Amino acid sequence: MHGINCIGILTSGGDAPGMNAAIRAITRTALYNGFEVKAIYRGYKGLLTGEIKPFRSDDVSNIIQLGGTILKTARSKEFQTYEGRQKAYENMMREGIDALVVIGGDGSLAGAREFAAEFDIPIVGLPGTIDNDLSGTDTTIGYDTALNTIMEAVDKIRDTAMSHERLFFIEVMGRSAGFLALNGAVATGAEAAIIPEIATEVDQLAELIQNGFKKSKSSSIVLVAESELTGGAMGLAARVKEEYPEYDERVTILGHIQRGGSPTAADRILATRMGEAAVNALIEGQRNVMIGVKNGDMVYVPFSKAIRDDKPINRDLLQTVKMLSI
Ligand code: F6P
Repeated sequence: MHGINCIGILTSGGDAPGMNAAIRAITRTALYNGFEVKAIYRGYKGLLTGEIKPFRSDDVSNIIQLGGTILKTARSKEFQTYEGRQKAYENMMREGIDALVVIGGDGSLAGAREFAAEFDIPIVGLPGTIDNDLSGTDTTIGYDTALNTIMEAVDKIRDTAMSHERLFFIEVMGRSAGFLALNGAVATGAEAAIIPEIATEVDQLAELIQNGFKKSKSSSIVLVAESELTGGAMGLAARVKEEYPEYDERVTILGHIQRGGSPTAADRILATRMGEAAVNALIEGQRNVMIGVKNGDMVYVPFSKAIRDDKPINRDLLQTVKMLSI
């Protein structure tokens, strides 16, 4: 017996398109299975301040198509302390919440892991981040939408890059991971992706220039992951000015546009399947796991594995980008 009557839901950390589809799926799967549902606003902060509201089916009507999160999100410093988590636990008990579903990225799931261990609470996580940097899952909720946003923006920049025969460095998000930069480069036919995963191994800018990437082309697009390790788009452009002044370079930083927008079909479907799987996991007595997707199947990934900073990137794709940019 799972011994759960009421499930609390919260979104935490950076928002990601598809979070609302997940909230809808969790709420309705839980209600369908006879649970009570309580929505917690502003992430862990809301657990501390008691911003909690019972959810009915109609509270999640017409949200599957919305970007952002109707539950709001926040980063709580207080929750990072034991005293904060104790207060959050007491509020949970007062509200009669027996289990939590947390939708967020690595920081949010690290918090969930600690909270679950200290207070013996069943918690299931959903990977909600555009960065795709959680281990044990092929993809995360929001990643596909962000990639599509990048693709649309880069397609537009290419028009002007071609007209003016310029070299463009386009910086994309990803925190310390290069998934958005690398797959964004594949999707847009960019001439290169500069990613943190190999930043300490090669001077990617020097390699790019030495390979004569401009030989047969009058313009070039380079996708740069935002990490300090890559130097970012501004850092690379400054180097070009200094070391290769023959290029007419420009910088675009895509920024938070990548976090917004209506989720793609792929993200809505992923979020819906994961939301349902989260409630099923609690029914099965699972705890301390993140729902992942592996080869199309829903899987349980222990939090300890999910938050390990070691998700491999497909390095072969770098060669693909290089080869196809001749
Ligand atoms: O984790 C998602 C993300 O968008 C990262 O790609 C980025 O580095 C960070 O969040 C930005 O955070 P904030 O919105 O707090 O500036």
